[in-house]
Amino acid sequence: MSAVTSTDAFVVRPAARLRGELVVPGDKSISHRALMLATLAAGTSRIGGAGDGADVRSTASVCRALGAAVERLEGDQPDGQAAATVDYRVVSPGVDGLSEPAADLDCGNSGTSLRLFAGIAAGLPFRSVLDGDDSLRRRPVARIIEPLRSMGATLLGRSDDSLPPLTVIGRHPLRSVDYSTPVPSAQVKSAILLAGLRADGPTTVRETIATRDHTERMLRARGIAVRTERLADATGVAITIEGGRTVEAIDQRVPGDVSAAAFWLVAAAIHPDADLTILGVGINPTRRAVIEVLRAMHADIEERPAGPADDGVGEPIADLHVRSSELRGIDIDPGTVAAAIDEIPILCLAAAVAHGTTTIRGAGELRHKESDRIAGTADGLRQLGVDVAVDGDDIRITGGRRLRGAVTDSLDDHRLAMTFAIAGLLAAGTTTVLRPASAAISYPGFFDDLGRVAS
Ligand code: S3P
Repeated sequence: MSAVTSTDAFVVRPAARLRGELVVPGDKSISHRALMLATLAAGTSRIGGAGDGADVRSTASVCRALGAAVERLEGDQPDGQAAATVDYRVVSPGVDGLSEPAADLDCGNSGTSLRLFAGIAAGLPFRSVLDGDDSLRRRPVARIIEPLRSMGATLLGRSDDSLPPLTVIGRHPLRSVDYSTPVPSAQVKSAILLAGLRADGPTTVRETIATRDHTERMLRARGIAVRTERLADATGVAITIEGGRTVEAIDQRVPGDVSAAAFWLVAAAIHPDADLTILGVGINPTRRAVIEVLRAMHADIEERPAGPADDGVGEPIADLHVRSSELRGIDIDPGTVAAAIDEIPILCLAAAVAHGTTTIRGAGELRHKESDRIAGTADGLRQLGVDVAVDGDDIRITGGRRLRGAVTDSLDDHRLAMTFAIAGLLAAGTTTVLRPASAAISYPGFFDDLGRVAS
């Protein structure tokens, strides 16, 4: 394997073998929430092993702008490698000591930062303006404006309240609500729960498909009563949080990001001579769907205990060992799409190499991510010679053809950049990924890791 990186193109050639151990960045979803909750808590919180991608840095800078002292400490990465993780110490005056930011809050490329901070800002009695890069300015915000307005906050978006920048004029206390989310979204659920901390009574969020539950686990670890009840339809849940509560400062270690690990799970499963171990990965039941989908496709993935069985705040952890596998196509239903929402592009690559056809149904939410990921994934895979059909919100991939090297475009979307780079480890000839730097949104050391495990 040889690789050339420049700011605007990454060139990758087939690898003879993939071997080694990897430490992926700290979980992005958990890292955002750890910084935010540390900002709401009075006192000192330490966060070990946070992801050091640009998205988490955006959250750290917004926390600072709201009045918390957020200090980066040395991470524990071996010499010569790009840091997968960073440690933080956050000293905050607590939610009642936060102050009106002097400038717009720049969330960069991060939808999670923008939506969760909107929930926090809704309960802060001043004006905050949440903004970000061109991609973030194309992402929908009506889904958070509606519930947060119903709680009594004032929110205004661009383009008829549909897009950022988002102005939030908060108020305290907010009104408690019982809200059913129209799309399964952990960001929307979390925004409402964070606002619910500042409400005058219990707030309930109902979801037809349960989304990632890090916010609930992390609130509980900080002394907040959060109740989760299964709804009668079996897939749905109702989550209730008491109002008028303050979170406690605690120390926490962030597990490795399963969404980052997914690139190596697929790389090893589709490569004919591969054996990789990803250390200390978070395997929360609401995040592990990618592992289950790959196993259903016949991937050889073993979970091994990784020191402590969880991170001390209720997030389970394991080492993941994955080897070359003969993958088969499967049917991925809309509930599974929601549970593996960030892993669909790399699962499409697995489908491209698998024998038989894979159908991914109800993937419409992918159009509202950092790019239109249905179009971006389909275009890149077609360049690589894959048979991809898109029919409305459904994707059908007929696998089994040898990938051929081509020029692919990440569209400045980190998950597409990494998906096409992994494809290059197998594709005949040379694969070029345009705009590869976007990988650093979630995985700054990705290309170094690729160079290390491929030979
Ligand atoms: C996230 C939730 C998901 C996911 C995103 C991170 C989170 O978005 O795509 O990368 O941390 O809550 P939605 O909840 O909007 O689907």
